[in-house]
Amino acid sequence: MKLLLLFASLLVSATAVTLRTVYEFPNPTWLENVAVMRNGSLLVTVIGRPEVHIVNPTISPATASLVTSFPNANAVLGITEIAPNTFAVAVGSTTPQNTPVAGSFSLWSLDFGAGPRPNAAVKVTKITGLERMQLVNGIVALNPRTVLLADSFAGNIVRLDLFTKKYEVGLQDASLASNFSAPILPLGVNGLRVHKGYLYYSNSAQSLLGRVPVSMNGRAVGAFSVFAAGGSIMLPDDFAVVPNGDVYLTSPSADTLQYVRLDGRIETIAKGEPVSGGTVAILGKKNVLYVCTSGLEGGVPTRGGRVIEVSLSGGVGI
Ligand SMILES: *[C@@H]1O[C@H](CO)[C@@H](O)[C@H](O)[C@H]1NC(C)=O
Ligand SMILES: *[C@@H]1O[C@H](CO)[C@@H](O)[C@H](O)[C@H]1NC(C)=O
Repeated sequence: MKLLLLFASLLVSATAVTLRTVYEFPNPTWLENVAVMRNGSLLVTVIGRPEVHIVNPTISPATASLVTSFPNANAVLGITEIAPNTFAVAVGSTTPQNTPVAGSFSLWSLDFGAGPRPNAAVKVTKITGLERMQLVNGIVALNPRTVLLADSFAGNIVRLDLFTKKYEVGLQDASLASNFSAPILPLGVNGLRVHKGYLYYSNSAQSLLGRVPVSMNGRAVGAFSVFAAGGSIMLPDDFAVVPNGDVYLTSPSADTLQYVRLDGRIETIAKGEPVSGGTVAILGKKNVLYVCTSGLEGGVPTRGGRVIEVSLSGGVGI
C-alpha cells in the first residue's frame, strides 16, 4: 500500500517539482556521475580531474570534500555500490576532444567501512585494469560478484566477475551501438541502472532509452526493448528509475530534466538553469531526486558543476 501511494504521488506530481542548488563546485568542475550513500551523503565523480568528492546535502549549507584522486588518469566516470558502503568507480583518461585514451581505464573500489567511522580514511584499492575496454562510462552492480560496465565507444556492455576479475562482453544489441557518423557525439550505451530485473540503458548517439531483462549473472533473459527515442530526448545521459519503472532523464546538450514513461510519453520537468548540462539523476530518500551538472555550455566550462535537489512531491505522500 505504501508503495502504491509512492507511485501515485510520483505520477501526479511529476510536473510540480521544486529545484534547489545544494552545492556548486568551483569552475571548472565537470560532475559526471553520483551515488547515494546509506547515510544520505553523495559521492560525485569528476571528468577533467581524476577525483571523487563527498557532498553532504543533509545539512545547510551543504559541505563537500575530496575523497580521493587517482594516479595516471584524468577522469572518473561511473560509480556503483558493490557492497554495503563500498563503491566501485571507473577511472581513466579522456582527451580534450572527449575521446578516450586507449587502454587507460581501470576499476577501483572505495571502502568506507561497515560501521560509523566518520573520520576513518577511506580504503582505496584497484580492482582490475580494463585495458581491453575503450570508454568505460556507466557501471552498475547486479550483486556482490557481478558488475556491468557500459563501453560507450565499443557500444556494448561488459560483464565483470569481481571474484575472478575476468571481464568479457556480456550484452550486445543494435540499441547499444555507438555511431561514429553521428553529428555531435559518437557515444553509444552510456548510463546503466537496474530495476526489478531489468537493466535500463541510455544511448547518447542514438538518442534512446531502452531496457532488457537480465539474470543475476548479467545475461539477457529476454528481448532488448527501446521505450523512448528520437529528437525529444536528444543525447540522453544518466538517469534515475522510479519505483513504477519510469525514468527521470538528464540531457546535457538539451539542458533538460525529463520524465520519460515506459509507454514512451515524455514530459519536460525543467529546462535551462539549474539543470543545464545535467549529466546524471539519482533517487535519494523521501521523494528527492539529485541531479548533477557539468557546468559546460556548448562544451565550454561556464560555471562549476552543481548538485541540484529536486523535490518530487511537494510534500504529498512522503
Ligand atoms: C556518511 O559517511 C561518510 C563516510 O564515513 C562520512 O564522511 C559522511 O560525513 C557521512 N554523512 C553523513 C550525512 O553522516
Ligand atoms: C549514424 O549517424 C548517421 C548521421 O546522423 C545516420 O545517418 C546513421 O543512420 C546512423 N547510423 C545508425 C546505425 O544509427
